[in-house]
Amino acid sequence: MRGIITILFFMLIFSGVASAQTGEDIFYTKCAGCHKIGGGDLSGPDLQGVTDRRDIQWIKTIITNPDKLVQENDPTMMELIARYGFQMPNLGVSDEEADKIIEYLKGFSAGAPRETPVEKQPAEQPSAPALEGDPISGKMYFTGEKRFSAGGPPCISCHSARGAGIQGGTLAPDLSDLYGKLGEKGLRGVLQTLQFPVMKDVYKNKKLSEEEIADMIAFFKETGSKAQKKQVKSGGMYPISGVMLFLVAMGIIWLYSRRVK
Ligand code: HEC
Ligand code: HEC
Repeated sequence: MRGIITILFFMLIFSGVASAQTGEDIFYTKCAGCHKIGGGDLSGPDLQGVTDRRDIQWIKTIITNPDKLVQENDPTMMELIARYGFQMPNLGVSDEEADKIIEYLKGFSAGAPRETPVEKQPAEQPSAPALEGDPISGKMYFTGEKRFSAGGPPCISCHSARGAGIQGGTLAPDLSDLYGKLGEKGLRGVLQTLQFPVMKDVYKNKKLSEEEIADMIAFFKETGSKAQKKQVKSGGMYPISGVMLFLVAMGIIWLYSRRVK
């Protein structure tokens, strides 16, 4: 019990630290898996000069609540989704964080004193020559039969993939059709970042390796092609309060760390 309290305590401190992050820090943890600033597109558009070509409020909305733009049938959003093949996921970015990111992005607008961001680009880029993944191994990572080298919990603790016959947690959306939804590049960006609200603390400093990512992609690709077209559409955020999710996630980490001991 004391262990849990200690963990909770540290998580609180860490969330305090997180809010002291700069826009640049947030960008490189949450966004750089899919976006570069200058130098071309990854799975998402190059964000150099985005504050010139889009309205600031619009940018804030796509960062904090991309689903809203889709619901409103926003023409720019629809065009971008058509062009890039999938919708930017909701990453649970707060208003305050979004403001910081936008300030950072403004530094790369046409009028701003130009500083070249190139050296700061992430080392492993989604466009790097892809490793050949093994779907069986990917499935084992999903179910926890194989452990992630950095110690992150298996996806099954919170997610199912019924398309692959995997009944896991129901706390989070079913992932059977992830490949169909995001495509290869988007999926790679997602697996590199794992920055969804509940997941980001669980996978903090526990990034998947390139090989693990390749295996997971192979698994999702296979599952996606098997999954029926009438796949469960995952609906973004679930109506459970943040505190509840937080506690459940802590419980899972606790159980998991006990099990592997
Ligand atoms: C999993 C990949 C992924 C991640 C992570 C991601 N994005 Fe995106 N982003 C996209 C895609 C794909 C599009 C284009 C389709 C759309 O608009 O939904 C996009 C579009 C955008 C746009 C509009 C670009 C334009 O040309 O108008 C902005 C701004 C943006 N993202 C900012 C961010 C920020 C800031 C973050 C981090 C908090 C982030 N994105 C994280 C994939 C991603
Ligand atoms: C501690 C529980 C937990 C674990 C472990 C977990 N997830 Fe999640 N995940 C969630 C929750 C909850 C959501 C819903 C969005 C949110 O609130 O974070 C989510 C959302 C997602 C989404 C967005 C789905 C959508 O349709 O919007 C993807 C993709 C995803 N998770 C992939 C994974 C993968 C891949 C793994 C394993 C490497 C994993 N998750 C492990 C809890 C978890």
